[in-house]
Amino acid sequence: MIKKTILITGGAGFIGSNFVRNICVRTDVKKEFDFFIIDSLTYAGNYFSIEDVVNKNKNLSFEQIDLRHSERVMSFLKSLNFCGVIHFAAESHVDRSISGPDIFVETNVLGTINLLKVSLEKFKTNPQFLYLQISTDEVYGSLGANDPAFTERHVLKPNSPYSSSKASADLFVRSYYKTYGLPVLITRCSNNYGPYQHPEKLIPLMIENAKSDKKLPVYGKGENVRDWIYVDDHNDAVWEVFTKGKIGEVYNIGGESEQVNLDVVKMIIKKLGKNESLINYVTDRLGHDLRYAMDITKIKKELGWRPKKTFEAGLDQTIDWYIKNSMWSKKVLERANYTNSTN
Ligand code: NAD
Ligand code: DAU
Repeated sequence: MIKKTILITGGAGFIGSNFVRNICVRTDVKKEFDFFIIDSLTYAGNYFSIEDVVNKNKNLSFEQIDLRHSERVMSFLKSLNFCGVIHFAAESHVDRSISGPDIFVETNVLGTINLLKVSLEKFKTNPQFLYLQISTDEVYGSLGANDPAFTERHVLKPNSPYSSSKASADLFVRSYYKTYGLPVLITRCSNNYGPYQHPEKLIPLMIENAKSDKKLPVYGKGENVRDWIYVDDHNDAVWEVFTKGKIGEVYNIGGESEQVNLDVVKMIIKKLGKNESLINYVTDRLGHDLRYAMDITKIKKELGWRPKKTFEAGLDQTIDWYIKNSMWSKKVLERANYTNSTN
């Protein structure tokens, strides 16, 4: 059987590295697919998150490429034979987008356009070519406490520079479908958590700080609500959409597990046997979205996917992983440069 090659962008980041570790090397997937992973290795991308698995598996290859560099993207990827893309790479942290929006436009918007241009070239010689954009629930904006969850038909109303850049990318993806007929899919997922997440994000930050009895910075009153999904559930859904989704469609993905931030922090404190006096209420995030919730009826009905892991079980597993892998967090934080998000 001739194997197909899929390009994975952002494979050294949180969700991408879990995708590489858990989907790309699954026996059934390995039989049919090779994966070419590209990543520019920003502060958020760490080759050591996937090095062991890339070395062990012949169906995986890696190259350091920055999607913002259009000439390099064009010349390198034009010569690579691949029949699909799963585009995870992005600047992903809302707080960083508030203090410095430019790179969010450069990577999330212009980087996506560079990838779309190459994809279109590939599509011209391969009508089976498929492009999957990994997007976010944040493109829909914020919900009030009693509003129904976001469906795929909800208007795009992003509030932060991060979500605006992601919404903009989604619209360019749509335009490549409508204008040039490029076969595209878009997934929009809620808040992920699990192993290999950068300790600047809520759950790993709270775990790392609580472990060493440091203060736990809760924005505002801690009343904001997020819909949490375990990263493996998200990645299973991504693969279902990539292999079975209907071209041109958007699929919402979520954990059906809404949690108030303060409750999440308290659960982490309890599990680690620490004291709630560690909680430190700090100045709220500017434009802080109150609530996200995803209506996942469409993906359930059309593709038969649903999240498997409960929040309680997933959180326990995640805390255990961070306890056992404190060297990983140490290395990530040592590498991180908090004033400039590129190398
Ligand atoms: P992450 O920040 O952990 O990883 C992003 C990866 O992209 C890193 O490896 C980084 O090095 C790479 N990257 C950044 N700029 C690049 C560039 N110019 N060229 C090439 N590579 C570049 O992010 P994540 O949490 O893994 O998110 C992955 C994707 O999923 C993003 O598109 C994000 O918007 C989306 N998403 C994330 C969540 C979540 O809760 N984390 C939820 C829904 C959707
Ligand atoms: O909803 C999907 C999105 O989830 C993804 O698209 C983003 O890439 C991802 O970063 C995440 O965005 P959030 O802003 O929701 O995640 P974050 O972990 O930064 O914050 C979660 C909530 O916790 C949010 O309400 C802000 C709050 N928070 C966060 C941090 C880092 C705190 O109270 N204190 C903190 O120190």
